[in-house]
Amino acid sequence: MSRLVAVSNRIPLGDNPSGGLVVALQDALRTSGGLWVGFSGETVEDPAEALAFHEGAAFQRASFDLTPQDHDEYYLGYSNSVLWPVCHGRADLMRILPEYLDGYRRVNERIARLLAPHLREGDRIWIHDYQLFPLAGELRKLGVRGPIGHFLHIPFPGPADCATLPNPPELFEWLSHYDLLGFQAQRDLDNFAASARSLTDAEQVSDHDFRIADRHIRAGVFPIGIDADSFVAEAEGAREEDRMRSLTGSQMMIGVDRLDYSKGIPQRFRAFQYLLENDPSLTEQVMLLQIAPPTRESVEAYQQIREETEHLAGRINGQFATVNWTPIRFIHRPIPRNELAGLYRQSRVGLVTPLADGMNLVAKEYVAAQNAADPGVLILSRFAGAAEAMTEALIINPHDPWELAQAMQQAIAMPLDERRDRHAALLRGVVEQDVGWWSATYLRALAQAPG
Ligand code: ADP
Ligand code: G6P
Repeated sequence: MSRLVAVSNRIPLGDNPSGGLVVALQDALRTSGGLWVGFSGETVEDPAEALAFHEGAAFQRASFDLTPQDHDEYYLGYSNSVLWPVCHGRADLMRILPEYLDGYRRVNERIARLLAPHLREGDRIWIHDYQLFPLAGELRKLGVRGPIGHFLHIPFPGPADCATLPNPPELFEWLSHYDLLGFQAQRDLDNFAASARSLTDAEQVSDHDFRIADRHIRAGVFPIGIDADSFVAEAEGAREEDRMRSLTGSQMMIGVDRLDYSKGIPQRFRAFQYLLENDPSLTEQVMLLQIAPPTRESVEAYQQIREETEHLAGRINGQFATVNWTPIRFIHRPIPRNELAGLYRQSRVGLVTPLADGMNLVAKEYVAAQNAADPGVLILSRFAGAAEAMTEALIINPHDPWELAQAMQQAIAMPLDERRDRHAALLRGVVEQDVGWWSATYLRALAQAPG
């Protein structure tokens, strides 16, 4: 079997990585082995022009540093102030500076230069996410001929959103150098097809095959999964029960998200507020535990979402708290996975309410962590990629606080039989389409892509 070389911007070199990409890729590489290349997280004025190799994982890891300018323009700039908001339907939050696109191209070109000397004949190269769209084209310029696939962990924008990008056709030029494009959901593949047709002279040859700039590209849907078996084991082993019971004495609803404006955290808090306003019997009976480590804090839109959520949580707690009870607990720390699994298991309701999300692994982790004999209920936004398959969750529109509050009420009161039926069906999907299934299915398709 040829070697797998995965490239992503983020690579876990420390403990407790959060973010769906590192969690999933780490699980995938543990089984297949290979090399994983990514940004070290260090910014230095004069970075080494070579990859640094790290010991201590079941697979090889190699990283590169960035200059502060590269970090500003490529990571904070084009990746997270242009592509991220556009892909999540928030072009209003986009901040475009001319140097961002130059920095994005420059860093991708540099990563290709650092990576090329380590590639071997026959390697399968798997590039991840929106930070690295141009990487295949840069590798091709350096003579790399083998199969190169891309997987997009976030939503692909439709034509109206794509049109807000600076130089939209360039996005499709970047993508045209891949043999296989992988998306999280059918919705993303449909958006890709519609945007390519509307913004370029791309031709769609079949459901999965496109001609862009005279190159043949295959595209498919590969919904990402979790390492379900190990998550179930973590949750069963967790001994959080007693601690949480003594902490709260009430039913718990849980949200676990990076503190990102795409995650719908203020909408969730407002719905909880309506719930408490409309059903005073829930006072001291239910609490919301929101775990949300801050992310991308130098970007203004992230500073704003942090202020907004903290303000809202403070206001709601001020309005409803009693001497014995705080309705919203807001934790900004990363939490070890086994502890997280225990907290999911303790929670009667899992709240996954993004306004836009590629997949959302928290939805799958919550289901895997439940006690099958007395499981909790998943409330899931219809705008998460996960909603395409997890139809037995309570599917809601997160923009409508009344609908969400009603779903919270329904989940809290749901009879045991219904909870078990819904959970059993959801768990089956999470276990069948786990992370091993995802990477194997993708890599099989890459091997068969026309190239
Ligand atoms: P995204 O990729 O947008 O961050 P996902 O829901 O797909 O969203 O993935 C988030 C991942 O990060 C999950 O595996 C989740 O368990 C993990 N995570 C989120 N918050 C924390 C936290 N505070 N501590 C530890 N892990 C976290
Ligand atoms: C999402 C993206 C990843 C990203 C992660 C964390 O999962 O799809 O590419 O790594 O968020 O974001 P960060 O900017 O901290 O890497």
